[in-house]
Amino acid sequence: MSIPSATEQVPGPAIHVRGLEKSYKELRVLRGVDLDVARGSIFALLGSNGAGKTTVVRILSTLLKADAGTARVNGFDVATRAADVRESISLTGQFAAVDEILSGRENLVLIARLRHLGNPAAIADELLGRFSLTEAGARRVATYSGGMRRRLDIAMSLIGNPPVIFLDEPTTGLDPEARLEVWQAIRELVAGGTTVLLTTQHLDEAEQLADRIAILHEGRIIVNGTLDELKRLLPPAKVEYIEKQPTLQDVFLTLVGARTDREQR
Ligand SMILES: Nc1ncnc2c1ncn2[C@@H]1O[C@H](COP(=O)(O)OP(=O)(O)O)[C@@H](O)[C@H]1O
Ligand SMILES: [Mg+2]
Repeated sequence: MSIPSATEQVPGPAIHVRGLEKSYKELRVLRGVDLDVARGSIFALLGSNGAGKTTVVRILSTLLKADAGTARVNGFDVATRAADVRESISLTGQFAAVDEILSGRENLVLIARLRHLGNPAAIADELLGRFSLTEAGARRVATYSGGMRRRLDIAMSLIGNPPVIFLDEPTTGLDPEARLEVWQAIRELVAGGTTVLLTTQHLDEAEQLADRIAILHEGRIIVNGTLDELKRLLPPAKVEYIEKQPTLQDVFLTLVGARTDREQR
């Protein structure tokens, strides 16, 4: 019998979560979260500010322990196989972890060295090309735009080819043009076979990128489906005899609003 190493493809979903619970003292943030993310897909965890999205990501990336429930990433239990989980993932947060004084290329080479990979220079050049940073590669990161930084951050997270990537609010704080650039970079990730779990407060981001969308609200996943499935939850509105399909925003506000009304009664 051999124990699978982190880089091996383990059968089953890339991420499997059942009954996840987490409280911060009295505050019950997660109250039984269930979700599965298929390999090679983009899964958007959508929720308002404070819904618990980062808490889910921190548990899945082994930075935080759950109070109850199970979670497996790349086939490894986060509680009992934390080291294998860490080897299987990368985590990119809202605040880019790039070194301002180094150039983009130097940042990439540094990470490749830290991960003991052969030929760091070639890895850096390949990633600069993939994220349209070849021209900017020799410039200090201090001179980069927000979108370029975030792209570099995503490129850095790809070093070593982790099968699962967590992007926690990857476009928060970016201007519209930079958001489009980052979206393109995320699409590239999945084209390469990587599984992406992304959190967002932006409905359009989920609408643009995700194969499946789950809404986290008051500690639970209240809906989980494709964009079309979510839209079918609401009847189309008739506007002057022209059917208007509901937007994800309609779906979100109706579901989240309806719950909040019901629970306040
Ligand atoms: N370390 C912590 N200690 C106490 N409360 C926390 C801590 N981290 C997060 N929270 C609270 O838990 C809730 C969920 O936070 P978070 O997971 O960051 O939500 P999101 O990422 O969806 O905005 C928020 O009310 C937040 O203030
Ligand atoms: Mg957050």
